[in-house]
Amino acid sequence: MGGISVGGISGAADISHDEAAGTWLLRMRSTAYAFGLAGDGTAVRHLYWGPRVPPQAVAGLLAGARADQPRERYRSWALERPDEYVPWGGIRFDEPSLKVEYADGTRAIEWRYAGQRISRDRGAVTLELDLADVAYDLTVTLAYRVYDGFDVLERWATLRNTGQRDPIVVRQAHAANWWLPPRDRWRLRYLHGGWGAETQIAEAVPGPGKFVLESRRGTTSHQFNPWFSLDPGTATEESGEVWSGELAWSGSWKLVCEQTSAGRLHVGGGWNEFDWSQRLAPGQSLVLPSFAGLHTTGGFGAASREWHAWQRARVLGRGDRTGLVTPRWHAEPAARPAPVADEPALRPVLYNSWEATSFAVSQDGQERLAETAARIGVECFVVDDGWFRGRDHDHAGLGDWTVDQAKFPRGLGPLVKRVGELGMTFGIWVEPEMVNPDSDLYRAHPDWVYHFGNRTRSEHRNQLVLNLARPDVADYLYQSLDRLLSGDDIRFVKWDMNRPFSEPGWPAEAGRDPERAWVEHVRTLYAIIDALRAAHPGVDFESCSGGGGRIDLGILGRVEQVWTSDNTDAWDRVAIQEGFTQAYAPSVMMAWVTDSPNYLTGRRLPLSFRFHVAMAGSLGIGADLIQWTEADEAEAAGLIAEYKQIRPVVQGGRLYRLASTAAGPLGAHQYVAADGAEAVVLAWWGPGQCEPGRPRLRLAGLEDGARYADPATGAAHWGAELARDGLELPAGASDFGSVLVRLVRQDG
Ligand code: DGJ
Repeated sequence: MGGISVGGISGAADISHDEAAGTWLLRMRSTAYAFGLAGDGTAVRHLYWGPRVPPQAVAGLLAGARADQPRERYRSWALERPDEYVPWGGIRFDEPSLKVEYADGTRAIEWRYAGQRISRDRGAVTLELDLADVAYDLTVTLAYRVYDGFDVLERWATLRNTGQRDPIVVRQAHAANWWLPPRDRWRLRYLHGGWGAETQIAEAVPGPGKFVLESRRGTTSHQFNPWFSLDPGTATEESGEVWSGELAWSGSWKLVCEQTSAGRLHVGGGWNEFDWSQRLAPGQSLVLPSFAGLHTTGGFGAASREWHAWQRARVLGRGDRTGLVTPRWHAEPAARPAPVADEPALRPVLYNSWEATSFAVSQDGQERLAETAARIGVECFVVDDGWFRGRDHDHAGLGDWTVDQAKFPRGLGPLVKRVGELGMTFGIWVEPEMVNPDSDLYRAHPDWVYHFGNRTRSEHRNQLVLNLARPDVADYLYQSLDRLLSGDDIRFVKWDMNRPFSEPGWPAEAGRDPERAWVEHVRTLYAIIDALRAAHPGVDFESCSGGGGRIDLGILGRVEQVWTSDNTDAWDRVAIQEGFTQAYAPSVMMAWVTDSPNYLTGRRLPLSFRFHVAMAGSLGIGADLIQWTEADEAEAAGLIAEYKQIRPVVQGGRLYRLASTAAGPLGAHQYVAADGAEAVVLAWWGPGQCEPGRPRLRLAGLEDGARYADPATGAAHWGAELARDGLELPAGASDFGSVLVRLVRQDG
């Protein structure tokens, strides 16, 4: 095959281009993706997404695609056009990826292939393919990135106004569009929920028509998460074909799963065009968010493991710490460099004060909590809401980011110092995008919030949303937070966001395109966090939005962890965590052990059960430690020590979801260390079981011919035995019983 190929390292990702045929083949660890030019370069057609194929296979795929012509005139209405990225224009009726309006009122796109570049950088290969409108100054660059050792394909697009005179109005712009191969039936799995019940797994059968998942709330949302999985209805946790995608965007988004009139399924997604449009000035570019996809034949479990490993190696906290961000908050970096590849540091065991003290924080009270936290083994102590001026309740204070002198007479310094002396790092809560009308900031700048002149400013939790698209607001927030982080030795920031947008007006921009604020808010949010991370490289971030309302690939690139849910009832958490881990790595899933009965559900659960559930992710403690007995402290100290032992396996290993409480009373996770030398099983029993006996759990991911020993009991088993006959769980199978079993491979 003639053409250009970049890759070539054994086992590495590669992208090859056959110039003569006009095709591209992207090969990942075990999968491949292909597309090619059609219509003399006026269209880019999808060809293939499935198991890895040799380059020679692409010619046949292209021939098949070109042969797919209507047999007679009227069938052209049902013509199958698998456009890689669907431009609105011509005879096209499926969901567009891109819709624009030119200055003379023309609203249809006609483009032509205008060149391509393939480059290798930091273990990733990137293809950029240019399409230029044949009559107007719009260039669209479709970007594709594949990574050595992974089956994840990352896609995005860049829009450029290459003219010198006229603006172009962008009315719909999706990050990518994914075509699925022909199958008789599809099953869509997605994550839905609400406050206190995030990441619940839902299923639907997408038939003819569209199935839309979206957020119109300005943030990712509790209601739906920008992740999907599609399979022909036959996949299980451990086997079968699965295609999955996740979008890197933390504002209003939309995924459209559409079966076209020709019977093919595609999923387009990106910024939600509802109430949005954006003007692209001459010379300006708009880099759209990335949308990653993967294919596996190993079922839902393999899809999750691929997402987890890729996120850890290439996404988490890779936020721009290079200082590229300028104070002009909306500047786009010239390119989107491949993220550095490394394994993130282990997450510390954290304490958070929210459920213990709510707004009633004080120097003494926090010190007392910190002393107990340190005794039981906590590594990072976080003061939640309530530490700043006016914040005695949720009616006041947001926006004024200075310490409340009544609560901390000598500032935060003495508490931070004490926490340090106790051997912990110090963290703090902020909610920068918000303001209470009862605040000095709002009294000085009532025009800084989203609003329409003659409409009610609807409050939610007594707060309004600041318009981050305004550079003066962005400057204020950056400076307030930079000052906070420059003062005391703060190493952790929990960035909260407790309400959705309403009345998203920006009167000062009337007549321009104030609707761009939907997108510019999020781009500025990213830019502020990126700039803070560059200025304060020792500070870790957590994303929170009234629990799990802002969990997505976009924010994960800028934080080390996320707050999973305000529902800390460990039994409810089992289902939330099962949904969460479909899409996101356990290491970012912050899980606190809180008091019993639970503040939200009133449910009483044993301390060991609460710990064993929280140990399935990144462990935190959120209880009122002052009320704990010596026995509680001793039990917690033992469990935290145990967590530290299994932490590298839980946070850095491969997750196998062995049993689901959706199917029976027992839920169980198994984690296998990256090098296979250790495995951890966590099992949790729900209520209402009928004489369950001593169940056996068939383990996964072990070597048949290796022996694994439980250091607690000395019992050893062959991998083959654990996989076939299962591990007999220790007694403990009662309502809300739980177990932790550690198995170490015996080498030699
Ligand atoms: C919502 C968060 O999810 C909670 O953990 C806590 O930080 C509160 N906000 C504080 O107002």
